[in-house]
Amino acid sequence: MKKVAILTSGGDAPGMNACVRAAVRYGIYRGYKTYGVERGYTGLIEDDIFQMYPRSVSDIVQKGGTILHTARCPEFKDYDMRAKAAENLRKRDIDNLIVIGGDGSLRGGLDLFNDFGINVAGLPGTIDNDLAYTDFTIGFDTAVNTVLWAINHLRDTNTAHERVSIVEVMGRNCGDIALYAGLAGGCEYVLVPEIKVDFKEVAESVQQSAKRGKTSNMIVFAEGAGDKTELIKAIKEITGRTPTVTTLGHIQRGGGPNMFDRVMAARMSVHAIDVLSSGEGAWAIGVKDSKIFDMDLAKALSMKKEVDSELYKLTRVLSI
Ligand code: ADP
Ligand code: F6P
Repeated sequence: MKKVAILTSGGDAPGMNACVRAAVRYGIYRGYKTYGVERGYTGLIEDDIFQMYPRSVSDIVQKGGTILHTARCPEFKDYDMRAKAAENLRKRDIDNLIVIGGDGSLRGGLDLFNDFGINVAGLPGTIDNDLAYTDFTIGFDTAVNTVLWAINHLRDTNTAHERVSIVEVMGRNCGDIALYAGLAGGCEYVLVPEIKVDFKEVAESVQQSAKRGKTSNMIVFAEGAGDKTELIKAIKEITGRTPTVTTLGHIQRGGGPNMFDRVMAARMSVHAIDVLSSGEGAWAIGVKDSKIFDMDLAKALSMKKEVDSELYKLTRVLSI
């Protein structure tokens, strides 16, 4: 009988559970025995693998986090550890694996295929939207909406007190959360890791905007965009105002997935089972122009993510 295992790895993202549900149920529909792996690659190494049934994934489509739990597993970069993981799959005759995670997680899957011939389908599950091969990752849209919720709340008090406000968001080296939330939230400035900006210029711009009648300013600061204390210092020096600083932190990773992420999770998981059924290989599953597609995993991971400079320009133009 055909068998497939499913794991979630790296930072959790809203929609991971929706992926697990769809992969298990569609896998069974396509004649597979389906298995879950606890705590990502850690569970693969420690042999924490168990069979899953349609009822194992009841009542999870709407939940954040991941019922399989997740982990960062640096040991997986070690060939001997991967050999152990492959052995744990092989002794159950499992030669297909669905990996749901970000860049590091998909790289781990590629290594497993290259070294031990385990077929891998990688689903982009991360709030960061930092994978170049796909328009969107699962969890990004929900996370941006969580940030927007926070920006709306901050805006109320910011406007009432006529303040300058800095809101720090996640994204590691990718500015997409900041960019999309900043544009959708009508923020004055978006600072992203990919575009270096002189913080004095930002402070000058806050000062200029006051002359144009703006009483409050909101700056979205991506966590990888530099030293936040330097920005605060520049704003104090140039405007004489002390900005409020709100770091949203892990709240951005939680919460139930929205419609977009749930539907994408279902479509990508179904595609993953279909591509694994087509033969041997390692594939990345993504979405381009609203269509779900697969491509060679190595090729997908060799692509370099670039910031959308048009969107960035728009945030500047619309903040006059
Ligand atoms: P994400 O998958 O969300 O990007 P990480 O970058 O933290 O999160 O990666 C998740 C896990 O994948 C990490 O524990 C990392 O050690 C593991 N991993 C396994 N193999 C590799 C690899 N070849 N390169 C990078 N990370 C890997
Ligand atoms: O990759 C998801 C992410 O939330 C990043 O945006 C962030 O930099 C990182 O994970 C935080 O990781 P941790 O949960 O280990 O603090």
